[in-house]
Amino acid sequence: MSKAAVILAAGMGTRMKSSLPKVLHKVAGLPMLGHVIAAVRGAGVDRIVVVTSPDGQAVRDYATAEGCGTAIQDKQLGTGHAAASAASVLKDFAGELVIAYGDNPLMTPHTFKASFKAAEATGMGLVAFRPRDPGAYGRVILGGDGLLERIVEFKDASEAERAIELCNAGVLAARAEDLMRWAASLNNDNAQKEYYLTDVPALAKAEGVRCTVTVAPEEEALGVNSRAELAQAESVMQQRLRHRAMAAGVGMAAPETVFLTHDTVLEADVAVEPFVVFGPGVTVRSGARIRSYSHLEGAEVASGAIIGPYARLRPGAKIGEGVHIGNFVEIKNTVLEKGAKANHLTYLGDAKVGAGANIGAGTITCNYDGFTKAMTEIGAGAFIGSDTALVAPVKVGAGAITAAGSVITADVAADALALARGKQVEKPGWAKAFRERQKTKKQSEQK
Ligand code: UD1
Ligand code: MG
Repeated sequence: MSKAAVILAAGMGTRMKSSLPKVLHKVAGLPMLGHVIAAVRGAGVDRIVVVTSPDGQAVRDYATAEGCGTAIQDKQLGTGHAAASAASVLKDFAGELVIAYGDNPLMTPHTFKASFKAAEATGMGLVAFRPRDPGAYGRVILGGDGLLERIVEFKDASEAERAIELCNAGVLAARAEDLMRWAASLNNDNAQKEYYLTDVPALAKAEGVRCTVTVAPEEEALGVNSRAELAQAESVMQQRLRHRAMAAGVGMAAPETVFLTHDTVLEADVAVEPFVVFGPGVTVRSGARIRSYSHLEGAEVASGAIIGPYARLRPGAKIGEGVHIGNFVEIKNTVLEKGAKANHLTYLGDAKVGAGANIGAGTITCNYDGFTKAMTEIGAGAFIGSDTALVAPVKVGAGAITAAGSVITADVAADALALARGKQVEKPGWAKAFRERQKTKKQSEQK
């Protein structure tokens, strides 16, 4: 049966104290809403409606860009009311529907699948969890048959009900038509005067539809309401990403010091030393080594390359096979072909470096004049002397050498030597005479 999801994201998120809507705050480089979208898609959902508040244009834009439909909840009257706001967008949909929360970024496809399975079994599925501290979560009350009796919100619960440790994680699945019908018929006769989605299972039960409860790990149910909870979600997500990488054959001596992005691709036998940060869009091929304190984003690293320690790869860095990028080297929008080396203190921006070229310490591409960016091309096997400034646009031919300290402003022919620095002048004995003059002067002043 086809599957849809409604993701609730109309809440205010005031505790984030941010001008950015809560669900757009990122975990491992992806907005929380993006994680929820990916998780439901991973469970076979192909139609998604994101429920937003009237002023949630940024959330709607993100959802639309991700291929989701959107609905507006005029007033934040509760989770049940929010779910019902998606009804008109889904009116032509016949299939299974799951309701999820947009600020729940750690829920996995596995758990969403379990909720669909439960719904297939008895007509409705709910995800619950057993938190170390049940706090103010809604309590899940099971019947003698192990199926759900009802959910009671903390504020409406009796002392005895509050003692229940099984809590509502906020994922509910059933046939779309029924779920929408029940959501539309809720009342707000409760402590918070809200339309609770959590009252839906009781309505279903009255019609003979029973709800199967599946229990998810506590970490998956973490809802993010504050910066501290966002950091907690980040930490869980980072652990997952590290474990996934190691399971795929990536070596990490101190995984807890390596930070990844949701889309980081590290092949088997990549070695990542302690304290490395991978920003968005990085691919590292098998056998490459990323040394400590390096920062990479938008970069491709081929096999056998060595990056760092203390290297920075920025977007458009394409590091070829066996290339060495050393300490305090910054690479932006630059291709380095097989075996090229830039080992110390260098900036290469908007450049192409041929195979086997050697870039000396302190080399800088002067790629920007304050208005436009210009290209530098360095041929295969060229040797760029230390402290060369390459004033782009400029080309250094294959096998050419630039002398240390040169400012290269014109193209250099293949196999030529370009020498572009002041000529050395030597004055014998000058330093000694200078010191003596100064000493005499000081002594006469002190008298
Ligand atoms: C909800 C559950 C509770 C559960 C807990 C799990 C209800 C009534 N209670 O409580 O049983 O234990 O989640 O975290 O559902 N939202 C809207 N419109 C609204 C209200 C909320 O879109 O009018 C969205 C929020 O943006 C959020 C989600 O629904 O993404 C949950 O709302 P929240 O206010 O956090 O519910 P809780 O009180 O935490
Ligand atoms: Mg909540």
